[in-house]
Amino acid sequence: MKKSFEKYIPFNPIALMDRTWPNKVIQKAPIWCSVDLRDGNQALVNPMNLEEKVLFFNTLVEVGIKEIEVGFPSASETEYEILRTLIDENLIPDDVTIQVLVQAREHLIRKTFDAVKGAKNVIVHFYNSTSTLQRKVVFDTDMQGVIDIAVSAAKLIRELTDEMVAETGMNIRYEYSPESFSGTEVDNAVEICDRVVEALGASPENKVILNLPNTVEVSTPNTYADQIEYVCRRLKHRDSAIISIHPHNDRGTATAATELAVMAGAERVEGTLFGNGERTGNTDIMNVAMNLYSQGVDPELDFSQMNKIKDVYERCTNMKVHERHPYAGELVFTAFSGSHQDAINKGTQYMKNSGTQYWEIPYLPIDPADVGREYEPIIRINSQSGKGGAAFIMQQNFGYTLPKEMHAEFGAYVKAACDKAGREIAPQEVYDLFKDEYMDVYEPYHLLKYKIFEEREDDNHVVVEFKGILEKHGLMKEIDGKGNGPIDAFFNGLRTVNFDGYSFKSYNEHAISDGADSQAVSYIQLIHNGKSVFGVGVDSNISVASIKGILCAINRQESNR
Ligand code: KIV
Ligand code: ZN
Repeated sequence: MKKSFEKYIPFNPIALMDRTWPNKVIQKAPIWCSVDLRDGNQALVNPMNLEEKVLFFNTLVEVGIKEIEVGFPSASETEYEILRTLIDENLIPDDVTIQVLVQAREHLIRKTFDAVKGAKNVIVHFYNSTSTLQRKVVFDTDMQGVIDIAVSAAKLIRELTDEMVAETGMNIRYEYSPESFSGTEVDNAVEICDRVVEALGASPENKVILNLPNTVEVSTPNTYADQIEYVCRRLKHRDSAIISIHPHNDRGTATAATELAVMAGAERVEGTLFGNGERTGNTDIMNVAMNLYSQGVDPELDFSQMNKIKDVYERCTNMKVHERHPYAGELVFTAFSGSHQDAINKGTQYMKNSGTQYWEIPYLPIDPADVGREYEPIIRINSQSGKGGAAFIMQQNFGYTLPKEMHAEFGAYVKAACDKAGREIAPQEVYDLFKDEYMDVYEPYHLLKYKIFEEREDDNHVVVEFKGILEKHGLMKEIDGKGNGPIDAFFNGLRTVNFDGYSFKSYNEHAISDGADSQAVSYIQLIHNGKSVFGVGVDSNISVASIKGILCAINRQESNR
């Protein structure tokens, strides 16, 4: 008995040993054609109504797509009416060409010509299925029968075009698709395409679009690229054709198939935004375009308003863009992992300090701002996050540049808080944690009052004296110390009241602006019995900030934090 997987027939790749596409690099955007309003729309549970189609159409125009397949007007009255509205209400910009799909059948072709009458620029896209399997199980015909269907459709389309152009002056172009091309013997595909080019009277000045669909993706992307290169090489009338591709995503590799097929000679790409379309969808034009963008190639499409485009898409299709969707998903510019956060942090610093004109941040293939994602946190904190992440949040969101020595310790507190909460924690919570832990530690010691004096000695040397009263549980201690600066003086004063176990390890400070005021923040690291203890002080006066920091460090130690 056969095992279940053995009932599948493997794809038989063509033998193209001297293929050239693997050495090609895409350096120019292809011609883009959106099939959202046709292939995408026909795959929706609830196809778009007029208002939604118009909204989607306008969005495609804003993105910069110049060829838009608007529907299948001979297939339904709704489609017909929508197309008429677009034309009659002058909703189609002059530099945009609308495309309409029709089967290679006479009455449908005639109806399609009625539907497009009066539009300025039109592509009449006709198709019939050519694959081995469809010929066998659907049409019960041989290849010649399939060629005859395509050729007579082409002749009729040419005739109707001549009449309509003479009457209206419209600009009508042609597109032919041997539907299920990738399942067609490749020589048969070449043959039918050449016959259609001839029947349409195409020429290098008046090219026909030959669209070679990967109607159902049944093999690895390289095999599709081989098929495209093969057809490009073998077509008798290659110079009278624009080679277009129309990849579907059944194996989840439509983007790869598209890119390899463009390397193999395709000049035009049909697809949809976010990959909507029959079954697993069409190739995602946005994804392919942004891939080009990330390589420094102008995709000639504008996705700088990604969230707006996504909103329109979600509203019109009733589908959701996945959180991990390339370039558009909610989480794709977010790092939770500690090492990623650390690298992003360093990359951001590197870009700032080096003044590089290139985008050089690890884990972020593009600048989120280029797709309008500038105001959301890249680094988010959960239990997977590391020391760099918490420090990054403190820096980016609150202006605190924590000294390196503090990162690991504070990161561990943040991690413990995430574990305890069992969820991601927000930037404000990170800040609150920092404040509670290092700044707002007022027990057991309070500084009740103090004064700092400066004295200039005979040799011009400055001596600072600190005098103050330290209180612990109602008991007052007077402290008095001298030093070469306020910190030194305060610290020496503490020694006089038995704070001998402490030594000074490190000190960092910087300014932060807090609303209208500029404040100083001081990070103090003391050592007590060989153990490091940090405290942080903030004040408008830098000396006071440091004194507060020292006291916080001592209080943290004394209260066994
Ligand atoms: O997927 C397909 O083959 C099609 C054709 C009609 C071009 O959508
Ligand atoms: Zn399709």
